[in-house]
Amino acid sequence: MERTFLAIKPDGVQRALVGEIIRRLETKGFTLVGLKLVNVSRELAEQHYGVHKERPFFPSLVDFITSGPVVAMVWEGEGVIASARKLIGATNPLNAEPGTIRGDLGINVGRNLIHGSDAPETATYEIGLWFKDEELVSWQPTITPWLHE
Ligand code: GTP
Ligand code: MG
Repeated sequence: MERTFLAIKPDGVQRALVGEIIRRLETKGFTLVGLKLVNVSRELAEQHYGVHKERPFFPSLVDFITSGPVVAMVWEGEGVIASARKLIGATNPLNAEPGTIRGDLGINVGRNLIHGSDAPETATYEIGLWFKDEELVSWQPTITPWLHE
């Protein structure tokens, strides 16, 4: 089954939005298979956002993501990678549609609350970067027949 890596950034944790954000993914019907609170090292931040190394905002992005605890998560479900990105909304919360996490809860591109893997390859890379295999729990929710025909 498809999996994605999502992380509630330090602003989401500080603003007490952890429950609200998890609720949106749970009620959509996705399954939580990994969850931990992490103080992110600069090394992990630089590996995670390596693709943005040359961008002008890279140093402030690394400062921000290492500034406080992050909730690292792996979610599972049919189409979860693209669907989670839709639930999250556009990178700049001012452009994100109402109904999305960033559209409803944020106002600044540097404080956009949550990260989501953007493709199958990045999901595989990021899950491996943030989680050990034994930290992921495979389980079958009993509501599965009520979510899928
Ligand atoms: P992530 O899920 O965090 O990867 O966001 P994204 O995939 O929607 O955006 P992208 O990967 O392009 O950028 C990574 C992060 O860098 C964003 O979430 C923003 O916090 C930050 N960022 C991107 N573009 C800008 C920008 O133009 N200015 C600033 N200050 N930050 C930016
Ligand atoms: Mg991204």
